[in-house]
Amino acid sequence: MDTIKIPRPDDWHLHLRDGEALKAVLPYTARRFGRAIVMPNLKPPVVTVADAAAYRARILAALPDGLDFTPLMTLYLTDNTRPDEIDRAVAADFVHGVKLYPAGATTNSDSGVTDIGKVDAVLGRMAELGLPLLLHGEVTHGDVDIFEREARFLDGVLSPLLGRHPGLRVVLEHITTAAAARFVASGPPTLAATITAHHLLVNRNAMLAGGIRPHLYCLPILKREEDRQALVSAATGDDARFFLGTDSAPHAIGAKESACGCAGCFTAHAGIELYAEVFEAAGALERLGDFASRRGPAFYGLPVADTEVTLERQSWTVPDRFPLGQTAVRPFRAGGTVAWRLRS
Ligand code: NCD
Ligand code: ZN
Repeated sequence: MDTIKIPRPDDWHLHLRDGEALKAVLPYTARRFGRAIVMPNLKPPVVTVADAAAYRARILAALPDGLDFTPLMTLYLTDNTRPDEIDRAVAADFVHGVKLYPAGATTNSDSGVTDIGKVDAVLGRMAELGLPLLLHGEVTHGDVDIFEREARFLDGVLSPLLGRHPGLRVVLEHITTAAAARFVASGPPTLAATITAHHLLVNRNAMLAGGIRPHLYCLPILKREEDRQALVSAATGDDARFFLGTDSAPHAIGAKESACGCAGCFTAHAGIELYAEVFEAAGALERLGDFASRRGPAFYGLPVADTEVTLERQSWTVPDRFPLGQTAVRPFRAGGTVAWRLRS
């Protein structure tokens, strides 16, 4: 197969940032994806429905003419979020989920939840009203090894959470381990997971062997080869609860190449093409449309796109950098090639 046609895909986990950075990165996503679940970890975070409405308006204002793209907004859950904010979120038709960052887990998560018991009433309201909870699934205790933080979250936090709120729809975001893939596969129909392209393509050796590559540092951190293979099996398999979420997360080059570099990989410039590589390598190109275009809408209760995109096998070289306001971002595969191209 040298070309493949799929319904226009959606990105179920994306960081668009704000201001100049938003203007710089939005076109890469909007050219490829019809919709994206937009993460709320701005500074300050998107906490209320009013914040989300204002952010949505800034995104639409930054959208270049001629691109048809719908931002699906999320709220950032804090210890102080109240159940009536959930009522307002459901009444506003542009909020599609509530993001839970354990405090301190990742970039801009300082206002996150310090103790999940504190948001129990909010989660109960979400379960009642059917609003999905999007989880950054890592424990944050300093004494837990960084490579174990996702696995520890499953039994320590997620299991009891699902027990307390059996009706709650939950997306375990950017899963990185075989353990998480197994956990989701054996979980209830209300539990789903997104998988990034970079976690499907590389393991931690790519980041740490033969030199440290800060542009591959993201959270949850890259894991072992057997984990990567388990993620590929989940993505290309027939369980409809695994779907595409790039977690494209731009940072200025200087913020990554630093004594204390930020977490996040920028992949939006090849946001669907990189997944085509994964599915081709797994001999599963015919499943790409399910993973990228059909399963996410089914979980979120939205229609599948009624337009299509075509990908062709034609390699292209990724630039070393892209502008990011006054600075620049180094994209995934910088200077290397991507095997598939989106036909415009
Ligand atoms: C994300 C970011 O930069 O906002 N970073 C990352 O490593 N993925 C935050 C997140 O999703 O964890
Ligand atoms: Zn993210």
